Amino acid sequence: MRLISGIQPTSAITLGNYLGALKNFVKLQDELTDVDILVFIADLHAITVPQDKIALKKNIKSLAALYLACGLDPEKVHIFIQSEVPAHNQLGWIMECNGYIGELERMTQFKDKKVKQVAGVSAGLLTYPSLMAADILLYDADLVPVGLDQKQHLELTRNLAERFNSKYGETFKIPEPFIPKVGEKIMSLTDPTKKMSKSDENPKSSIFLLDDINVIKKKIKSAVTDSEASIKYDVEHKPGISNLMTIYACISKQSIQEIEEKYKASTYAEFKEDLAEIVASEIEPIQKKYNALIQSKELDIILDQGRDYANFLAQRKITKIYQKIGIGRKR
Ligand code: AMP
Ligand code: TRP
Repeated sequence: MRLISGIQPTSAITLGNYLGALKNFVKLQDELTDVDILVFIADLHAITVPQDKIALKKNIKSLAALYLACGLDPEKVHIFIQSEVPAHNQLGWIMECNGYIGELERMTQFKDKKVKQVAGVSAGLLTYPSLMAADILLYDADLVPVGLDQKQHLELTRNLAERFNSKYGETFKIPEPFIPKVGEKIMSLTDPTKKMSKSDENPKSSIFLLDDINVIKKKIKSAVTDSEASIKYDVEHKPGISNLMTIYACISKQSIQEIEEKYKASTYAEFKEDLAEIVASEIEPIQKKYNALIQSKELDIILDQGRDYANFLAQRKITKIYQKIGIGRKR
C-alpha cells in the first residue's frame, strides 16, 4: 500500500494546512504499518500564480523543515521536492492531453483563484489539476490525505486514471482521498464563512505555524464569534465558535460533545484563553524543532534520499506509460 500527498510552498504554512493535512500525514505514518509514504513539496504547483523567487526558494526549504518538525519521520516517509523528479512534468503533460478544458474549467479552486489574478490568468492555473493527477498516479498511490478543498481534484484524478485505463489498458491504480472527519476545513478567524488560507490579505485571519507564540494567542483571543455567548457547536448559526471548537477538538483529541459539556458554564473569553494555551503548546515544540532543523545538513541529506527514491519509482512508471501510448522508439 502506498500513500502520497503534497503541500504548496507558497508563503507560510497555516494551522489549516496543519490540521487538515500535515497532522494526518503524521497520524497515518504512525498508525499504518506496511505502507510506503511519500510526501513532497509541490513547488511546480506554486508557480501557477506569480511568486517572488527568493521567497519561493526560502519557502521550499522551510516547508521541508516543517514536515520534519511536525513529526514526519524520515525513517518512515520519503520527503522530496516535486521539481527534482522530472517525471511529474512528463506525466503531467500526458494528463493534460487526456483531460478536457471543460472539466478543468469546472474546478472550484480555478474559478476562485482566477478572479484574484490581476496580472493575467496563467494556463498553468487551469491545467494544475492534471499535474496533481500526475503526482498521484505516477506512484500508483492507494491513499491521498488532503483537506476538503482538494476533494474535487481527487475526483478528477480518479476520472483521468479511469479514462486512461480504458483507452490504453490497465495502467493506473485508482486512488482514494483520505479527508479527516474533524478539521477537513478550518475557517478564517476574521470571517468564519471563508476557508483559512495562506493567501488571505488580513494576517489576523490565519494562524501561521511560524508566527510568534504571543501573536498566535492574540489572534485566537480576537477571533470573530457571534453575540450569543454560549459555547455550542452550530456551523450554520455560530460559525465562529464552531470553528474554534473544531480547532480545540483536533488538537486536544476531545470530541465536540465533550468540549460543549466542559465549557457549558464558561464565557467565550474563558474558552478562548484555554484554546490559546492548547494551540500554543502544540505549536511551540514544532517551532523549536524547526529552528534546529532549518540550518542543518540533515535536511539536505533527507531531501536527496527522498528525491532518489521518488525518481526510481517515477522513471520506471513513466517508461511503461510511454510504451502504452506509443510515443518514443522503444517498444
Ligand atoms: P495548499 O496550501 O493549498 O497547498 O494545501 C495543502 C493541504 O492543506 C491540502 O491538503 C489542503 O486541502 C489542506 N488545507 C489547506 N487549507 C486548509 C484549511 N483551511 N482547512 C483544512 N485543510 C486545509
Ligand atoms: N493541490 C494541492 C493543494 O493545493 C497540493 C498538491 C499537489 C497535492 N499535488 C498533490 C496534494 C498530490 C495531494 C496529492 O493543496
